[in-house]
Amino acid sequence: MNSFASRIIQWQRCHGRHSLPWQATRDPYRIWLSEIMLQQTQVATVIPYYARFVARFPDLPALAAAHEDEVLALWSGLGYYSRARNLYAAARTVLDEHAGIFPDVPETIARLPGIGRSTAAAIAALAFGRACAILDGNVKRVLARHAGINGWPGERKVELALWQLAASRLPQAGVETYTQGMMDLGALVCTRGVPACVRCPVSDDCVARVDGRIEQLPTPRPR
Ligand code: ADE
Repeated sequence: MNSFASRIIQWQRCHGRHSLPWQATRDPYRIWLSEIMLQQTQVATVIPYYARFVARFPDLPALAAAHEDEVLALWSGLGYYSRARNLYAAARTVLDEHAGIFPDVPETIARLPGIGRSTAAAIAALAFGRACAILDGNVKRVLARHAGINGWPGERKVELALWQLAASRLPQAGVETYTQGMMDLGALVCTRGVPACVRCPVSDDCVARVDGRIEQLPTPRPR
């Protein structure tokens, strides 16, 4: 059987999403903006906000030169306004401390306001092709099911196990396609509730499926 990563990459090429506006670019500014908007908001809602935002602020210097009020006005309706404040603060930081050049090292990216470990890795992978593992909610679900990881992912030791697993499964090449593939598989196939295992490229050796534990994984928060 092909490796996990090569099956994800092959699936992404045939069945993943390819026409999202932020997929048409390798510009770290635009990829960063999309990842922040997508943190708590659905793709369909993000698309028009993203379009208006990049039309008004086409690059990082334009954003850094704005007044915060205008940034917040463009965010109006998306919610979680700390995202917009952090975005603006991070643009100022990149201008002041990184000569306006978006950093390409995940640890450096993660020090910017509003960017956690997984978002930093997504930017590093999608914009710079760096072999960095992401671990958002969708990817946690895919990995916990496929490897049969027990325990609530909100628990530190479970999360650490998932990070290690995510890193161990990175491909040698094609990390951009792989990263988008993991996001898309979680969003479109390996969904919460009843996943569409018949359409999954890694169902053959999925522990949750083979053991009949799809409904039990990932383990819900203990109560
Ligand atoms: N959610 C978070 N990042 C995403 C991306 N790059 N494409 C689609 N959905 C996402």
